[in-house]
Order: sequence, then C-alpha cells, then structure tokens
Amino acid sequence: MVDETAPAKQQVDEESLEGQVKEMYRRVADDPHGEFHFEMGRGLTERLGYPADDLDRIPAQAIESFAGVGYYFHLAGIREGESVVDLGSGSGTDTFVASLKVGSQGQVIGIDMTDPQREKAERLRDEGGFANITYLKGYINDLPLDDECADVVISNGVINLVPDKAAVFREVARVLKPGGRLAISDIVTESQLPETVSCNADLWAACIGGAMQEDSYRAAIEAAGLSVEQVEPCAYEFISDSALGATEQWGVKSIALKAVKPA
Ligand SMILES: C[S@@+](CC[C@H](N)C(=O)[O-])C[C@H]1O[C@@H](n2cnc3c(N)ncnc32)[C@H](O)[C@@H]1O
Repeated sequence: MVDETAPAKQQVDEESLEGQVKEMYRRVADDPHGEFHFEMGRGLTERLGYPADDLDRIPAQAIESFAGVGYYFHLAGIREGESVVDLGSGSGTDTFVASLKVGSQGQVIGIDMTDPQREKAERLRDEGGFANITYLKGYINDLPLDDECADVVISNGVINLVPDKAAVFREVARVLKPGGRLAISDIVTESQLPETVSCNADLWAACIGGAMQEDSYRAAIEAAGLSVEQVEPCAYEFISDSALGATEQWGVKSIALKAVKPA
C-alpha cells in the first residue's frame, strides 16, 4: 500500500532541487520583473485579498517580490503582542503585514534558506523601521527555534516546495504554544501528480511539482497533532502554459488553511 503522506524522496534529487529553488527565489528577490511561471506584485496581493491599507504601510519593494499564493490573515486572527513565525518569508511581505498586527509589544520571525531573499527583507526592515521583525537563515523542516515559542505560525506558498512535508508540520507543532494557530496558503492538488510533473525541478520550484494531494496534505497536518479547522479556496492562478496545463489536468490549486494545536 502507498503511504501518501510519505515524503517524495524517490521522486526528486533533493540536493539539485534545493539549488534550483534557491536560484528561482534569488531571481524573485533581485529581478522581480523577469519571466516566471507565476505572477508577483501588488496587483496579485490585492486580488488575493490583502487590504490596500496594509499594503500602503509596508515596503513597496517587498510587495514587488511577493510570491505567495493566497491570503490567510483573516484565519490567523493575529493579536497585538503575539509572537509570529513566517515559514519561507521571502522578501518579507507577510512579515511586514504581521508586524503591523502584533505591534511594538509583539515579534515576528521570518525564516528563509535563500540569502538574497532574506537580505532584501532585512534591508527593507531596517529602512522602514520595522523593529519587531527578525530574519533567520534556516530550513522550515528543521527550525532554528525553541519549543513552544510561537502563538501563530504563518506561511505563504512555501510548504509545497519541501519534499518532507510531514517534517515541516512536526516542526510547526513543536514551536507552537499550546492553543497556538497555524494559518497558511499553499498549493495542493485534487489528484496525485504523476512523476513526469513531480520530477520536473522547474515545475517543482514554481510551486507545482511538489504539491501534495489535498486530503494527504490535511492528513499530514493532523498526523503532527494539529486540528484542521478551516480550509478555503484562494483566487490564485499560474500564468505560464506548462503551469496552466498541469493546473487543469491535476487540479493544482491554492487553499488557505487554519489548524490549531490542542491547548
Ligand atoms: C514561493 S516563495 C514565497 C515567499 C514568501 N512567502 C512570499 O509570499 O513572497 C518561497 C520561499 O520559500 C523559501 N524556501 C523554500 N524552501 C525552503 C525551505 N526548505 N526552508 C526555508 N525556506 C525555504 C524560498 O527561499 C522562497 O523565499
């Protein structure tokens, strides 16, 4: 019997995949107006549901390199004074939005493995005076964080990129305080992707090849000890022909999801 929650280790060469993902997101940071399988920028954030008031208060250059796939802050319910961890924080859009919500008494930690993304976010944080944000270099399946340090873990368009998703959700359960929330947007599929797609490193780096079947994705979250409370569709569309083909054939789609760690 096939364990659908098992990591796709046999399907991709993880080392070359990591290099490809880092190169893709270096370009997202340094050359956001280049050619990608996916859309970026302010128009996308507005279509996904980010309030213009929030976007007006965060660095425009972060939004230019926004490569998220949905809006989930209404599910996160972030309050002043809370601690928020953003998995795969990129050039920082969601860390800046979270920073507005937690205020000066709260803190936001962004984790990303790609140096140019983190460096861009750090520069924009310093220029904009967002003193409550810290960026750390790290892998989201092995977080450089203490147990039970976060009220909320957020993530946008990132977990699909990690071969071992079960390890990511175990790390989320470890760093959340009891009663803490996970609120994310990510790419999932209606049917299991064939190897022709899941072994295509370019489609993987574009947030398609690594997408997990939706029921298996929810099962991996629950297996880590979190309860999935809400799942919603997001208004997200890929733009290249190859990405659109995969989207239509296998039901590749974006969802927003909230899960809770038992109190
Ligand atoms: C699609 S982008 C999304 C970035 C950001 N969340 C946003 O909305 O703009 C994916 C980001 O996740 C990071 N990433 C991918 N896999 C990672 C991993 N295993 N550990 C840490 N960061 C990772 C990439 O470096 C990239 O910055």
